Formats: sequence, C-alpha cells, structure tokens
Amino acid sequence: MNIDGKLISAKRKDALKQEIEKLKNEGKRIPKLSVVLVGNNQASQTYVRNKDKACAYVGMLSDVIRLDEQISEEELMQVVQQLNQDEQVDGILVQLPLPSHIHEEKILNLIDPQKDVDGFHPINVAKLVLGQNGLVPCTPQGMMVLLDEINYDLTGKEVVVVGRSNIVGKPVALLCLHKHATVTIAHSRTMNLASLCQRADVLIAAIGKPKFFNRDYIKKGAVVLDVGINRDENNKLCGDVDYEDVKDIAAYITPVPGGVGPMTIAMLLENTLKAYYQREEKKNGI
Ligand code: GUN
Repeated sequence: MNIDGKLISAKRKDALKQEIEKLKNEGKRIPKLSVVLVGNNQASQTYVRNKDKACAYVGMLSDVIRLDEQISEEELMQVVQQLNQDEQVDGILVQLPLPSHIHEEKILNLIDPQKDVDGFHPINVAKLVLGQNGLVPCTPQGMMVLLDEINYDLTGKEVVVVGRSNIVGKPVALLCLHKHATVTIAHSRTMNLASLCQRADVLIAAIGKPKFFNRDYIKKGAVVLDVGINRDENNKLCGDVDYEDVKDIAAYITPVPGGVGPMTIAMLLENTLKAYYQREEKKNGI
C-alpha cells in the first residue's frame, strides 16, 4: 500500500494554519522563518521557493535572504549573527550545499541552537543522541510521522537504514532506536547489503542511487521508506527504490515524488513553531 506523504503533509499544514490563525486572533506575535540561500544552485532555489510558499500557506512570516555565490565566509557569518540577534526570527535555515570556499560546519555551528530548525547544530545533535527535547532534523522527523500515520509500532522491529548522512541516516536511526527498534545503519560499503536488507521490517533507503533497491532487497510485508530524490534514465524523478518492482512485496511503500519529500517542509514549519513557543516561554520566564 502507498503511504501518501503529500496528503499527510497537507493535513499537518492545515493543522498549523489553524494554530497560527489562533495566535493571530489572540493578538500574539507571528512565528517567523528566515532562510539563507547562497548562490544559484537550481535544486536549492526550488527547495527555498517551496519553503517560502509553505510559510505563506500556513500564515507564518518568512523571508529569504539571497546572497551572492562569492560572499565571504566572514560576511555570511555576520548575516547568521544578525538573524541570531533578531527578536522577530524564530527559525534560521541556511540552505545547503554552500559554495566550496565556505566552511559549512563553521556556519551551521554559529546558528543559535534555539533557532536551529534544521536540527544540525551539535547541541541539537547531542540532545537527539541523549533523547532530550531539542530540534530534530526535518526529514527523519517526517518519516517518524509517516510510521505513526500507519500506526506502525517499531518496538522490537528490525530497521535497516541504508545511508549514514548527518541529515538523514544517523538521525533517523536514533529516532527509531528511541522507539525501541533494533537498528542497523548500512551504507554503500556494507558487505552483503541485499541479505541485510532482506531482514528489515522497515527499510529506510537513503543511499542516493536511482532505483537501487529492487525486490531482492525487500522482505515480504516490509515497510519501505524511500528518501531518494534522483532522476532516472528518462530524466524522470525517482527514488532509491525501484517502486514498480517492490510495490507488491512491501506492505507499505512511500512513492517518489509524494512520499517522504513533502513531509520535510511540514516538519520545518512544525520546528519553527516549536522554536517560537520555546522562545516565547523563555521570554515570559515560564
Ligand atoms: N539541502 C538539502 N536538504 C537540506 C535540508 O534539509 N536543510 C538544509 N539546510 N539544506 C538542505
């Protein structure tokens, strides 16, 4: 069965819209997301446009700070510091990748952890490892919502995550572990990958290779979450999973597009609202 990420994301966004409407009616400050976009990367431009549109849809304030590809690291650091200090800004997202002359880590580490809606700051990563309440990366969080939506209980289940990135693989593995799954993180150099994946009750495909996972990798009745966004031989969008080959074996599968992808933006908005509430509480000394 298909897991309709587009529908689930729309539902979450509608709930956010109502919540923000309520803040407005109560005369409260409106949450704000600031996105920093450096350079002209085509995919980044599209992502940023979609984030901006989603903010407008739910009634959140947003602004996109577009900066020249040639901006110095020093100047970019100043932009981030200004956003850290701006009382109206609840969420800061610096779109990746950054140009090669800029030290990505240096910029991400500078973002105020309370405004770090990507959940990439070491403080938020540490909180995730420890199971403390911090800001959690959006795509992994979106996958947990999808599992919730199909009422899937991870307790004691075997989860295989293929991909070990800081943005997806590592955080989603931790989230599954916190939900009492037995988790294996595999990657492109894992030996006997197919037989390992065959064991998975939940397979999380985040390897970045178009249609890599065919039915030989899937246990009958497994849940397959596909994080890939690739182009196939006909330049059509596709995931890391060969959807047509796998769909009859899997109990549940996310399509690409329309699966995990749309959840990321919904979670970004939820993180921004969470950051807003936490900042307001702190301001009011609660
Ligand atoms: N580039 C691709 N995905 C992401 C993401 O989740 N956050 C940021 N900041 N940049 C990205």
